[in-house]
Amino acid sequence: MTHMWAHKYAPSHVSDVIGQGRAVEAFAAWHGAWKPGSPAALLHGGTGTGKTALVHALARERSLDIVEINASDTRNADAVHALLGSASKQQSLFRRGKIILVDEVDGLAGREDRGGVGAVLTMLKESKFPVVLTANDAYDPKLRTLRAYVTLVPFGKVHMNSIVARLRQICVAEGVECEDATLKQVARTSGGDMRAALTDLETLARSRRKIEHADAAVLGYREQEQSVFDALRIIFKTQTLRNAVDAIERTDKDAEEIFWWLETNITNEYDDPHEVATAFDALSRSDVLRSRVRKRQNWRFARYATAVMCGGVALAKRAPYAKFTRYAPPQRLLAYGRTKARRNAMAAVCEKLTPHVHASARKIMRDYTGLFGVMLNKEAAFAQTLASAGLTEDEIEMFQ
Ligand SMILES: Nc1ncnc2c1ncn2[C@@H]1O[C@H](COP(=O)(O)OP(=O)(O)OP(=O)(O)O)[C@@H](O)[C@H]1O
Ligand SMILES: [Mg+2]
Repeated sequence: MTHMWAHKYAPSHVSDVIGQGRAVEAFAAWHGAWKPGSPAALLHGGTGTGKTALVHALARERSLDIVEINASDTRNADAVHALLGSASKQQSLFRRGKIILVDEVDGLAGREDRGGVGAVLTMLKESKFPVVLTANDAYDPKLRTLRAYVTLVPFGKVHMNSIVARLRQICVAEGVECEDATLKQVARTSGGDMRAALTDLETLARSRRKIEHADAAVLGYREQEQSVFDALRIIFKTQTLRNAVDAIERTDKDAEEIFWWLETNITNEYDDPHEVATAFDALSRSDVLRSRVRKRQNWRFARYATAVMCGGVALAKRAPYAKFTRYAPPQRLLAYGRTKARRNAMAAVCEKLTPHVHASARKIMRDYTGLFGVMLNKEAAFAQTLASAGLTEDEIEMFQ
């Protein structure tokens, strides 16, 4: 029997659980500090985000026996009592530690079986071993009583970048060829559900060595990819945050590129100076957020930067302008392409000068190149100085 990829590639160590840094840390800390009488843990969040997987990985890493109760299967109080009552009071045969897992406790808390929650509650309070509960929605009213006795550990959607990276590793391990664009599409369609992404990839790879982009159509990818112009039009014309954020999720452009498109076109769309100022303010805040995300590699938060960016620009206006705007491509991206070769050459020259000028290449490029131009014009001998620093004639030319 070969296992499904979601099973085959399940995390075997806590560190294999991706994109859930905070949850992993909080859960490990909770378990490390647990003693009888401490609260249970409630891992909650979307389906396929690693809740059950994390419990298994931790148990394996810390050599714990898992006493697992699938709450959806255990529909009456007596059964829960019998199972958990004994498990939570006895030592393991070989005195290994134990962890009690009540998976999908929201299933247990159905209206008909109030007793189930009661039994779990009693057990939580009396257990000699740490108890972990999982649920999709911790704020389900059915769990209200339980919530007072647990430490909440929230799981977010797994970030698209993390999913793509993991899928790529799996393609390598399976010897399957797959373009990045296709992996991105699988990740995007999954909506942050790692199990769904793995299952979809497996479906695509079945009996193929190479996944073509067209194959991904079988996933029933509903949302059409939009051009950047469509996305801009939606962001500039909509009055809701939701629409603005959705617009960017449907393009193949990444948020950073959209940033420059917005920056270029705010003044083309908005006429009111107050709206222009508000929109730029939102852009600058999103920029700060995004650079923090990058610096701390906290990709989970990237979508907030995107929301501030798109939503901030969208909501800066009092009402949509009833005009047609021809959106211009960002000069900055165009200019960057054009002058890139020249700037690379200049950077190399500045690098050569660092030992002589006692400054970094970057500082030389920024502060000294203009000065060198002036000196070359004033004093012929300065060319000689640059030549003795190892610059060729062509390179010296660049300063003039
Ligand atoms: N964060 C993650 N990192 C790595 N793999 C993951 C992650 N989340 C899910 N997976 C993969 O998806 C499979 C299913 O995950 P898991 O059973 O932990 O989901 P869950 O959060 O418990 O979902 P549900 O609410 O549906 O029970 C795992 O076996 C693993 O292969
Ligand atoms: Mg689960």
